[in-house]
Amino acid sequence: MRPSDDTRIRRATTQDAEAVAAILNESILKRDATMLGDPVSALEMARRIGGLHEKETILILEEGGVVRGWGIVRFYSDRLGYARTCETSVFVRREHTGRGLGSRIQRALLEAARTADFHHVVARIWTANQRSIAMHAKLGFTVVGTQRDVGYMDGSWIDVTIMQCLLETER
Ligand SMILES: CC(C)(COP(=O)(O)OP(=O)(O)OC[C@H]1O[C@@H](n2cnc3c(N)ncnc32)[C@H](O)[C@@H]1OP(=O)(O)O)[C@@H](O)C(=O)NCCC(=O)NCCS
Repeated sequence: MRPSDDTRIRRATTQDAEAVAAILNESILKRDATMLGDPVSALEMARRIGGLHEKETILILEEGGVVRGWGIVRFYSDRLGYARTCETSVFVRREHTGRGLGSRIQRALLEAARTADFHHVVARIWTANQRSIAMHAKLGFTVVGTQRDVGYMDGSWIDVTIMQCLLETER
């Protein structure tokens, strides 16, 4: 099913915390896309949304007024030398994956990152998550390398592929 015309992307507010947490929790419970261990509560997510730095952003994709997915631009590190480097992540409601929604969110995240004057965007993706790697490659990310056995969850080692995208910015 292609995305309907009734989609829009906007900045998240604390009112979106429940929907954002629910979508993230699908991945936490599935154990296939994030190293987070325990489900995140709406309260915790509201704190996270409310506590974003002015250069950081969470974007929501809505379809017919229903939140279908979200993504974040956040600092890669709080150290001075990484002030122009951010990390992005995207999560789409599982029943709506493969419809182009993740690509739309990721494109909007890159635009938000550019607007916030970030130059280098990092994505850390489970190597087994070939759909996410394909989506990032399609949008201009290149593979930096693979961290073998960098994660350990439920008795298994997890490889993570690091991808990067350089944005056109002023020095
Ligand atoms: C990964 C994710 C964000 C991608 O978003 P999506 O809406 O499913 O992806 P899209 O429909 O925009 O497809 C993007 C590209 O991925 C590739 N792709 C799509 N489905 C795929 C599949 N089943 N296998 C491999 N590649 C696939 C294609 O290259 C596609 O681009 P195209 O349709 O122009 O050819 C989404 O699937 C998701 O949220 N998954 C669960 C959580 C997650 O893994 N988050 C990422 C953490 S790094």
